[in-house]
Formats: sequence, C-alpha cells, structure tokens
Amino acid sequence: MTQFDEKSITQAVIDRLADCRDPRFKQVMTSLITHLHDFVRDVKLTEREWITAIQFLTDVGKTCTDKRQEFILLSDTLGVSILVISLNHPSVRGSVESTVLGPYYWEGAPERPLGSNLAEGVKGEPTFYSGRVLDAEGGPIRGAVLDIWSGDGEGNYDMQIPGETEMRARGKIRTDAEGRYWFRSIRPNYYPVPTDGPVGRMLRAMGRHPYRPGHIHMIVSAPGYEAVTTHLFVADSPYLDSDAVFGMKDSLVVKFERCAPGRAPTGERMDNPYYTAQFDFRLRKAAA
Ligand code: BEZ
Ligand code: FE
Repeated sequence: MTQFDEKSITQAVIDRLADCRDPRFKQVMTSLITHLHDFVRDVKLTEREWITAIQFLTDVGKTCTDKRQEFILLSDTLGVSILVISLNHPSVRGSVESTVLGPYYWEGAPERPLGSNLAEGVKGEPTFYSGRVLDAEGGPIRGAVLDIWSGDGEGNYDMQIPGETEMRARGKIRTDAEGRYWFRSIRPNYYPVPTDGPVGRMLRAMGRHPYRPGHIHMIVSAPGYEAVTTHLFVADSPYLDSDAVFGMKDSLVVKFERCAPGRAPTGERMDNPYYTAQFDFRLRKAAA
C-alpha cells in the first residue's frame, strides 16, 4: 500500500497522468496540479476555507445562464482573461491592441450604411466616431468591418435592460475605398460589472470597486488580416487607472471633443452639443 504525505502527494497525482495520450493536456494538467498544490501549501488552506471556496465556485456555476457568464466575469476580474489575451495577441507597435470581449457581445448585429446612427433612441450624449482602417504600412483597407457595441450613456447594455429584446447601440459598419469609417452613437459612460452575484461578493471582500471606464467595443476584421477585439476608451473617464477587468490600454484612449450645436461632420444639423471621437485601426496580416 502506498500512502502520501503533504509533499509526496503532488508527484503522486502527476504520476497518474502516465497514460494520458494528449501531450498538451498532460503538460497543462501537470502544471495546474503543481501550482494548485503549491498554493494550498503556501497559504496552509484550512478545511473551512476549502469548503468556502467549493461553495463559491458552486455559486459561480449556478449564477451562469444563457445571458450571464459568471465564470468569465471571475476570470476577467482576476486578470486571467487579459493575461490570456496578452499572451495570444502580444502588442505590436503600430497595430491596434486587443482587449477583453466582455459578456455583452451579441452576434449578428445588422450591417448599417456608413454614417448611420447606431444608437437611435438610446440615452446618452451624441457622438460622431470616425477614422480609418489601415494595414501595417499605412495603406487603406477597403471593406473592413467594424462590429460595434456599447452601453448607453448611463452604462447599461441592451441585454441588461429588463424587457428589452431588441439590439440597441449595436451595428456593423464597413469601410469605404479609402479605408474610412464613420458612424453615430453615444459617448459611453463608466459602469460597474455585475455585482449581484458571487463575483460581486468577492470584489467587496477584496475591497475592490467594480467599475470599468467608459468605452465602446468593436471587433475589427478584414479578409487576409487578423481580426482584433478591442475598445475605444473615453480619455477623461473615471476608472481609467483602475479598470475592474484590467482591460484598459493607453493606446486605445481617445479624446472626445465637445462641439457646439451646428453642422455635424456628416452634414446633419445638431441642435444640441455633441462629441467627436477619431481613431485609426491598424491591422496585421493574418498568418498564411
Ligand atoms: C464589458 O466591457 O462589457 C465587460 C467586460 C468584462 C466584464 C464585464 C463587462
Ligand atoms: Fe463594456
């Protein structure tokens, strides 16, 4: 009979992978077991803490629905999501940086003509977004698609509004022959990640706030180029320095210029003050 002590248990568990036929899975599980056991030894985990952790993870699972993914929120707030993104999409000077997808992406947003108002009837300060999608050499990419989504001016996404079944503040915009895009939406506000579940309890216990700085999401794609999941952040937004999901990138911060009522860049008459936000996205060629 073989029994194990608090040191030999780790190698014993790893040895049980001897017949594992997937080398990558074996590598990942070996490392996971090693780090998990080291963590338990490091903090000298008590039985009470162990059961609390099991209950917490059970709650995280029970909070997930087809509209809510509490495990991704856990990964986001522990910095794991952005770490995976950083490893798989390292920043390359001159290319647009990636950041978190978040839980509010809704596949299938309709394509809208250049200049469309994506946020018709949505609360918030009107904003004109414009810029170009370019290749690494600065050449225009024609027909690139920006799949755009944002919360309203109070930080609420359509999916979060009770009874709202329609897409709001979403749409796809395609660049013209010069790689230019322009559309209307609102100036996004900062907002909290969902705090009514176990991740919210965890954040409070850690003494952390739940806020993300104001941002608009987009996935920018074009045939032959790497698609990029990214945001534009509002330059003077609170929480730029303490994004609850660690997704803020300096290179994605944009100054929203306030304009007096008058003629907007798209020629429309604006009776109220509005903002303009300008940003060029540079894409990398996809690996052959
Ligand atoms: C978001 O930006 O929509 C988001 C990202 C991560 C967690 C919660 C919300
Ligand atoms: Fe968001």
